[in-house]
Amino acid sequence: MASSFGAAQVLVASNRGPVSYAVADDGSLRSRRGGGGLVSGLSAIGPESGALWVCSALSDGDREAVRRGVGEDGVRMLDIPADVHADAYNGIANSVLWFVHHMLYQTPLEPVFDAEFRRQWASYETYNRAFAEALAEEAAEGAAVLVQDYHLTLVPGMLRELRPDLRIGHFSHTPWAPPEYFAMLPDDIARQVLRGMLGADRLGFLTRRWADAFTACCERFAGGLGDTRIRVHGLGADADFLRARSHEADVDERMAALREEIGEGRRTIVRVDRTELSKNIVRGLLAYRQLLDDRPEWRERVVHVAFAYPSRQDLAVYRDYTAEVQRLAEEINERYGTPGWRPVVLHVKDDFARSLAAYRLADVALVNPIRDGMNLVAKEVPVVSDAGCALVLSREAGAHEELGEDAITVNPYDVVQTAEALHEALSMRPEDRTERGKRLAAAATALPPARWFLDQLEALRG
Ligand code: G6P
Repeated sequence: MASSFGAAQVLVASNRGPVSYAVADDGSLRSRRGGGGLVSGLSAIGPESGALWVCSALSDGDREAVRRGVGEDGVRMLDIPADVHADAYNGIANSVLWFVHHMLYQTPLEPVFDAEFRRQWASYETYNRAFAEALAEEAAEGAAVLVQDYHLTLVPGMLRELRPDLRIGHFSHTPWAPPEYFAMLPDDIARQVLRGMLGADRLGFLTRRWADAFTACCERFAGGLGDTRIRVHGLGADADFLRARSHEADVDERMAALREEIGEGRRTIVRVDRTELSKNIVRGLLAYRQLLDDRPEWRERVVHVAFAYPSRQDLAVYRDYTAEVQRLAEEINERYGTPGWRPVVLHVKDDFARSLAAYRLADVALVNPIRDGMNLVAKEVPVVSDAGCALVLSREAGAHEELGEDAITVNPYDVVQTAEALHEALSMRPEDRTERGKRLAAAATALPPARWFLDQLEALRG
């Protein structure tokens, strides 16, 4: 399964790995490969590179695969006890660190750092230590290790102690909180997170803004950056893959089905997200409702195609948000719908081919996160859209730094402004839309995932 101990020249570490398993009815294990930037990035260096991906077993099927010794070459899954993983992933990573970096807490009720938080933090340490120990075991002398994201902030420091010979990098796919907000964390925890990351030789961020926020936090809580170097590297859409995949037969089939749901001759406002608070889906729906109120000329002529795929459903706050999205979509359909027109087409079952079908049909893409490290949907829709779509984009998405000039910019909290932006996008002259769409697609694909990955690696080895 894994490479032999001490042999890996390049190691990637992340919570979610490239493959997951499910136990079928007959007891056999079925594997499923995930997509995403890291997967295509890693494939750029090829199997002969001796690369190893260390990740966590997330499902019962994954744990069973580890127990049975089933696995893929180049992947090592860690069977961390389910309760430890739940505390680290649900409790600390997705309820605390995700909320801090996306500035999602709502005072006066949140956050409360109590004894339960301290207990979960101990699990987060255990979980990070399991990664550090596995990496230390697997890495060849002087190997390069690329640690990913907020789940694993303590790994660089722990690994540095175990294996001072390694070249260690950490990359954040999220925003980084400004110091005034980061200061909310208990002082010792804030310091531990920063010092953990500063165990790396190099730290990567998606935009200058997140890198500067991290530097400011280090100055305030950790006495500066020390010897660690910081680098900004955006991540773009994978143009070749998307263009090819979006013209396969299953996507065509789903386009036909979607066209039926939308109805003949109507414009589309498309959004595709994991259902998660930072994505701001509820305010997107409120803005759409405002559009139908303010601009009745669009009634019957536009459909909001919203795909909101459940995410992190072990946590009540994410479940409640999913329910609120569904409730509001229904309310809009009841209030404005007519026998031949359903104003919102909402789908919650994850289906990649259908997402691509919606991208192809998009006249307008709505991407309005409260904060987002990058947001790849903003980059993918212009590449795939058949007619070149207009993009309504939050100024708080990392992607705005690269796409802002040709997008229509919104403040994600301002639903009146967002409604006006949707109107402007729907009303754009076709030749303007095509022109802007082309420029958006070019900007969106300037940094392919393979380049992103190789750059990290070169910088680390350099
Ligand atoms: C963000 C994070 C990733 C994470 C992804 C999906 O993009 O930066 O690390 O994998 O969300 O979230 P999930 O909790 O399902 O892994």
